[in-house]
Amino acid sequence: MTAPLRIAIAGLGTVGGGVLKALQLRAHELAERAERRLEVVAVSARDRSKKRAGDVSKAFWHEEAAALAGSEADVVVELIGGEGGSALALIETALANGKHVVTANKALLAKHGARLAAQAEKGNLALKFEAAAAGGIPIVKALRESLIAHGINSVHGILNGTCNFILTDMEKTGRSFAEVLKEAQALGYAEADPALDVGGGDTAHKLALLASLAFGTAPDLKHMHVEGIAHITQADIGYAREFGYRIKLLGVARRVGGGIEQRVQPAMVRAGTPLGAVDGAFNAVAVDAGEAGPFFFEGRGAGEGPTASAVIADIVDIALGSFEPAFGKPAHTLTPLVPAPEGTAASAYYLRFDVLDIPGVVAEIAGRLAEAQVSIESMLQRGRNPGEAVSIVMITHETPQLAVARALKSIATSDKVLGAPSMIPMEMG
Ligand code: NAP
Ligand code: HSE
Repeated sequence: MTAPLRIAIAGLGTVGGGVLKALQLRAHELAERAERRLEVVAVSARDRSKKRAGDVSKAFWHEEAAALAGSEADVVVELIGGEGGSALALIETALANGKHVVTANKALLAKHGARLAAQAEKGNLALKFEAAAAGGIPIVKALRESLIAHGINSVHGILNGTCNFILTDMEKTGRSFAEVLKEAQALGYAEADPALDVGGGDTAHKLALLASLAFGTAPDLKHMHVEGIAHITQADIGYAREFGYRIKLLGVARRVGGGIEQRVQPAMVRAGTPLGAVDGAFNAVAVDAGEAGPFFFEGRGAGEGPTASAVIADIVDIALGSFEPAFGKPAHTLTPLVPAPEGTAASAYYLRFDVLDIPGVVAEIAGRLAEAQVSIESMLQRGRNPGEAVSIVMITHETPQLAVARALKSIATSDKVLGAPSMIPMEMG
């Protein structure tokens, strides 16, 4: 066997601890796969006294993560998190010092990925990030190496385990958003700042990486519509069920009108479709790969086990000397993303209006929708006592997003409508 691959791990939390544990528990099998031993020679975290998932006693402990870049390691595994700070400094210095890099840090890569990919290529080094998108699902490898023959038309899916866990639990148990979020944090699914999960930012980071791999563009967060799930109510979840749908936070990237549309937003997905059946912390990614056809990937999207699995797959690839450009093609050929013309994407929409239950209110809403050329497919209103607030829910026919937005702006000015209307696109499953 060749010399062991020497590994330094920065960050020993949910993911780093899981990687360390799996490398130790499965050392023999992984050495056979990698055709050499995988040896953790150095580690770093903030608190040396904390108990870790794996044994750190045989690795050199560095107080400063940056010191790992100067260690004897061949590969630096960055599992600290954060788009800049210690994580970025470590990756830049490790590459500068001729070390391969593996990271699960989508926030950092969505922002600095193209530049770091160029730096890695210059040094003939690997920059690998399978764990950064969709947890244990091997979607990065699939887009980077496998689905390349015919081009990709679209990539869309459930990319945040925390949000899917929250939406699934709220639907099944009726528990509150805040209560379920706490559980997702305790299970190790959420980011250090869970606002990134529930605000859609984490899905945006992952979508930027997948879009880059799919379309050969540099990761782009600027041309992306991003909404989270914090405004989704038990009422929306209940109405979705009545219409035969479930609410999922989706990331969608697709070719539209000569450009690329990227958006993150809650969507109504038909119950019983593959995407509509994805529950809990699972993720799923649907890829339209042109003549190769549609593909659907599903698996655990967050937590120790699946994420460690993806990190270790990258480490083994490096041990075997298999490393391609980080985004599938040389970094200098990644083109800037040309955004799709705004508002042209069309979809059917779920609309909810909280209104005063008085004569003429439905006619007024319907009239303003008609003025904007928005046609209604179905409607639901639960009666209360005359004069009380009530919700009116409508599903539209397929309509350009701009037309619906125009109609809602007009409807929001009505004195019969209370608060901002809610608008959720209906997506293919
Ligand atoms: P975590 O549990 O909060 O762990 C972070 C680790 O980094 C901790 O061990 C912490 O040390 C250490 N750390 C923080 N600042 C440091 C510094 N300046 N120098 C050295 N170590 C430092 O986070 P995580 O969930 O494992 O996530 C790590 C990365 O993986 C993030 O980029 C995240 O987005 C990504 N990721 C996470 C998941 C998941 O399911 N959790 C899935 C995919 C990707 P202490 O332990 O001493 O505090
Ligand atoms: N916080 C992320 C999630 C971790 O919930 O999906 C996996 O990337």
